[in-house]
Amino acid sequence: MTPFEWNFPTKLTYGPGRIDEVGQIAAEFGKKAMIATYAKGSALDPVIERVESSLRAAGLEVVIFTGIEPNPRAQTIDKATDIFIAEKCDLVIALGGGSVIDGSKYIAATAFSGGKSWDYVVLGERTPREYTGAFPIISIPTISAAGSECNAGGVIQNAETNEKSFSRSPYRIPKVAIVDPEILKSVPLHLTKESCIDIFSHLVEHYLSSHAESEFADRMTEGMILCLMDNFEKIVQNIEDVEVRGQLALCSIFGWSGIQALGRLGCIPMHSVEMPLSAYYDLPHARGMVVVIPAYLEHMADAIPHRFAKLARRCFGVTETDDLVAAKLLHVKVREWFKRMDAFLTLSDVGIPDDKFEQMADDVVRMFPGGAPESTAGPRPISKDEIVRIYQLCK
Ligand SMILES: [Fe+2]
Repeated sequence: MTPFEWNFPTKLTYGPGRIDEVGQIAAEFGKKAMIATYAKGSALDPVIERVESSLRAAGLEVVIFTGIEPNPRAQTIDKATDIFIAEKCDLVIALGGGSVIDGSKYIAATAFSGGKSWDYVVLGERTPREYTGAFPIISIPTISAAGSECNAGGVIQNAETNEKSFSRSPYRIPKVAIVDPEILKSVPLHLTKESCIDIFSHLVEHYLSSHAESEFADRMTEGMILCLMDNFEKIVQNIEDVEVRGQLALCSIFGWSGIQALGRLGCIPMHSVEMPLSAYYDLPHARGMVVVIPAYLEHMADAIPHRFAKLARRCFGVTETDDLVAAKLLHVKVREWFKRMDAFLTLSDVGIPDDKFEQMADDVVRMFPGGAPESTAGPRPISKDEIVRIYQLCK
């Protein structure tokens, strides 16, 4: 097991109807709140109004910033940051999915630390700027997928350069996450399916990207994957089942909380391979992961076969005793699962042609360099040609 530090500083406030407590909770952190959210004109509008009412009832002033994109743009975040500073806000209420919560983290920390949001992301060999602190963040997830509501991570994209990248900072961990399963009921079926698969991608990234053994982390992860699979089956039967929405919310939060990786820090090659799909084609991240996961698992099975085999046996019913054979069955089982859930997608299904594979692979190895030249990090360094091959398997 690799030495580690872990804490979970976010106070988790869970339960139907608890969104109405936001005013009372926010009052502990300041007098003027920015609500950061998506563009108005969706099923979320009444929820925005509810949050605003609760804040005003608790005596807070409110600034509403709408228009954070599903792939949050650095340029939009910078605009929100300027407004946050000009309005002298004290805290951010991140009301939305992973994109809004990620974007809100950059608003809160960039407003506190100065500069532009893009200064802080990982970008090849450059040393990212470091935050000096952040204004408090209260997250209210409206979709269960990214786990961003309780962690330090955040992904944004640069609309001027077609680059998408990430950073992590403990300053940006939300103080409180209000997880109200009632408001998760309105997530449409196709987004629910894609989100479940994004949760799966988080659960397996470290499991399949590190040679370190940590049985505790394995068992935690396997338990969460099995819980996710069970509740994925249930939610497609009734997307308004509040209890099931709650179980999926916990899979989202703890699936990317670090607890799934205790003693086994790894890298995130699957996410790195997906990022150009979102950056060039504005593909929602979760949909991109649906496309990338089976192809990645197929191509990388022989890189770390004993880990792939363990997952295949413990979560997907594989009984084959030879590790390499079992490892190569994982992508088959995952594809079958996606198809059974009517969630399987290829690049052509999402309208992405093959003419930018080289360019996108170049971006991945440039932005997220691995241990060998012209490669990205992974269970073994992944070359540009291998990334092109993975994209070809996504067709
Ligand atoms: Fe993800």
